[in-house]
Amino acid sequence: MTLDQKIGQMTQPERMHVSPSEVKRYHIGSVLSGGGSCPGDNRPVDWVAMNDAYWSASMEEDDDHLAIPVLYGVDAIHGNANVLGATIFPHNIGLGAAGDPELIERIGRITAREVRAAGVDWTFAPTLAVAQDPRWGRTYESYSEDPGVVGEYAGRIVRGLQGGGVVGAGGVGDFVGLGPEGILACAKHWVGDGGTRDGVDQGDTVVDEEELRRVHIAPYVPALEAGAMTVMVSLSSWNGEKCHAHRYLIQDVLKGEMGFGGFVVSDWNGLDPLAEDYGDAVAMAVNAGIDMVMVPEAWKAFIAALRERVERGDVPVERIDDAVERILRVKFVSGLFERGRPWGRRGANGSSFGSREHREVAREAVRKSLVLLKNEGGVLPLDKGARILVTGRGAHDRGRLCGGFTVEWQGVLGNDRIEGGTSVWEGIEAVAPGAVLGGVGGSWDVEGVGEEEGVGGTQGEGEEGDFDVAVVVIGERPYAEGLGDIREESPVRPGTNHLPAGAGVLKPYGDTLELAALHPEDLATIRGLSGRGIPVVAVLVSGRPLVVDEELAASAGFVVAWLPGSEGGGVADVLFGDFDFVGRLGMGWVGGEVLFPWGYGLRLLGSEV
Ligand code: BGC
Repeated sequence: MTLDQKIGQMTQPERMHVSPSEVKRYHIGSVLSGGGSCPGDNRPVDWVAMNDAYWSASMEEDDDHLAIPVLYGVDAIHGNANVLGATIFPHNIGLGAAGDPELIERIGRITAREVRAAGVDWTFAPTLAVAQDPRWGRTYESYSEDPGVVGEYAGRIVRGLQGGGVVGAGGVGDFVGLGPEGILACAKHWVGDGGTRDGVDQGDTVVDEEELRRVHIAPYVPALEAGAMTVMVSLSSWNGEKCHAHRYLIQDVLKGEMGFGGFVVSDWNGLDPLAEDYGDAVAMAVNAGIDMVMVPEAWKAFIAALRERVERGDVPVERIDDAVERILRVKFVSGLFERGRPWGRRGANGSSFGSREHREVAREAVRKSLVLLKNEGGVLPLDKGARILVTGRGAHDRGRLCGGFTVEWQGVLGNDRIEGGTSVWEGIEAVAPGAVLGGVGGSWDVEGVGEEEGVGGTQGEGEEGDFDVAVVVIGERPYAEGLGDIREESPVRPGTNHLPAGAGVLKPYGDTLELAALHPEDLATIRGLSGRGIPVVAVLVSGRPLVVDEELAASAGFVVAWLPGSEGGGVADVLFGDFDFVGRLGMGWVGGEVLFPWGYGLRLLGSEV
């Protein structure tokens, strides 16, 4: 291979910034979709067409170009949730509460099938972060604050996604490839992303090496043992040193000591902050062991800079050869060369995408992820014959249930763009003929139903005597990454996020974890109802533990639903007692006066799980 061909393999632009003909001309090895970056009408058929065009360009062979299939990557972190009509699973924090590794493997298999339906071969998942501070905006991407739980899931999700058998420690020659329905997994973000000080996204993880290994590195071992062939580097630092330039962590620990034989990909513009001079940054990252560089827009500058640094001798040719060998090894071992064009592949645009069968597994996951924190006077289970008021901003809003990384990077509100599935209200309505949705007709006529407010409030002139009980769905609106952080505003370095160019300030979600301060309307709704003698069952939709002391006190029942995804009906299954609560907190509930330890969760019968 020529140097240009090799560097091209190491380059990963974003689809908006690279055409199929450029993929061929620059020998591009991989293309990605950033969160919410979707072709055409965002149907599987549009994705297959796009992938087919990139693939065909990459496979044209002539004197200057080798036929090497391009690898396309997406963030299918809770189902193939970028694509309209996908089955959307609970985010990881909910799956961690479910405590069911076998379920995780099934979710991996279904996710792979729905990713393949779009003609895609690679997901940037699983996130193996071990979140230590709920102020972190990516807490919901973490299964648990406990490395043991994350480690227990890590191998199962990789096996589910890749569909292959058990292999060795990810060392050279250990891979057995993908199963017929598998896609490549990517363990991320190496390493310590969940341990940053004050939960600041892309921040600094200040821990000694023993703790880094015990908490943050440990879950990677089962992921590699299960055959994970790619690893993404974290945008965070370890003790002040950026992971993207951390030769010890990447070359020595991951590739050396742990024998990882796959390839390491950088995160979104992760080279930019490494040095003032871009060429220096490129040399640092590649010499530290990064094999493929996610450089969404300015990929031509990357190619030029790397070429120059190789020619100057700053980056040894042996390092380039090693990087390319790793990328090609993964492409060979995963069977990419044999898969043929995306249009012709088994499952492309397949009918199982968003199918009933897939949604049933997502619904099971919702049921198992719910954590019951309070059940005063046995308000739960609800009686299907009862007169039930269903209200709150999340009651009939599937977008809100899905959270970030759903259709858009920051997620969406409302029902329109979450096709299929059920809201909490739809789940209740299906089984309880006496249920009424507040704000949409019925005797509880609530004013001011806006996008942000949603259904809810206490303004309405309800005839409270009409209701035996109220289900109030409260909590957070969707967010992703640093925009979900709880902290002060801070300047943002352009390009280090999917933020629009010119966004100078990173606006976090808020500066407190207290729900009553973030969304006072939730407490007002609960109090308005309970003050009128209607017992309230609060259902909290949230990516993390929040301080909810007042909401808890004002409610008879309190259920943590996390970010359940498209199948909100699973909440109803459990509220009516068709299934018991089995979920336990994967993260301790701290911060307020009311504390629930890690592992806490009630059952309907009143005892702890
Ligand atoms: C995130 C990664 C993600 C990548 C591609 C980054 O901003 O940190 O987790 O895989 O974008 O969308």
